[in-house]
Amino acid sequence: MRIFLDTASIDEIRQAVKLGVISGVTTNPSLVAKEKRADMKAVIQEIASIIDGPISAEVLSLETDALIEEAREVSSWSPNVVVKVPVSVSGLEAISVLSREGIRTNLTLCFSLNQALLGTIAGATYVSPFVGRLDDIGHDGMQLVAEIVELFENYNITTTQVIAASIRHPLHVITAAKVGAHIATIPYNVLTLMIKHPLTDIGISHFAEDWQRIQKS
Ligand code: E4P
Repeated sequence: MRIFLDTASIDEIRQAVKLGVISGVTTNPSLVAKEKRADMKAVIQEIASIIDGPISAEVLSLETDALIEEAREVSSWSPNVVVKVPVSVSGLEAISVLSREGIRTNLTLCFSLNQALLGTIAGATYVSPFVGRLDDIGHDGMQLVAEIVELFENYNITTTQVIAASIRHPLHVITAAKVGAHIATIPYNVLTLMIKHPLTDIGISHFAEDWQRIQKS
């Protein structure tokens, strides 16, 4: 399973890239707004200068023609851009047009198996089931990821990859990998939590103490 960073923070992306474990970035309008930046294009192009992998940038138009035009514009910002399109009638229509033009898309705000099925048939490059938001309302978000993976395997679908999104904690990442998600897109704090283990910290200080002791003896 590959790991993308789910953020619009340039600092977080710079830090994470140094680890050599991140192969893409997903953003959304809320994440860009959180960084107090109003120019989506500038943010996406700055991210593209840091990481050489897919960068999801979301469109906001609702009507089909406007959505397609906006998606074409967004995809022109960088060859790395993947256009994030929320599930809707116009969203699916746009994805089918965009995929025929060779523009990569990420079907976002996906909360059901039917939405994922329609997304892959329409030609989405990625589908993003939102695990945490389903968990928040008492559903099993990771079950949806597992079902989408199974459905794609049943029909040997290799043109669409499953991104486990709305990840809230390290256990989500483990489960996403176990059920076969192609990618998990994770917030920076989850990445740092994945690295830490108290026994590692205890082990490092014991090794250092033992080594110091033998040097003084
Ligand atoms: C995915 O691409 C979204 O940006 C993101 O995972 C949403 O996560 P949230 O539910 O924590 O806002």
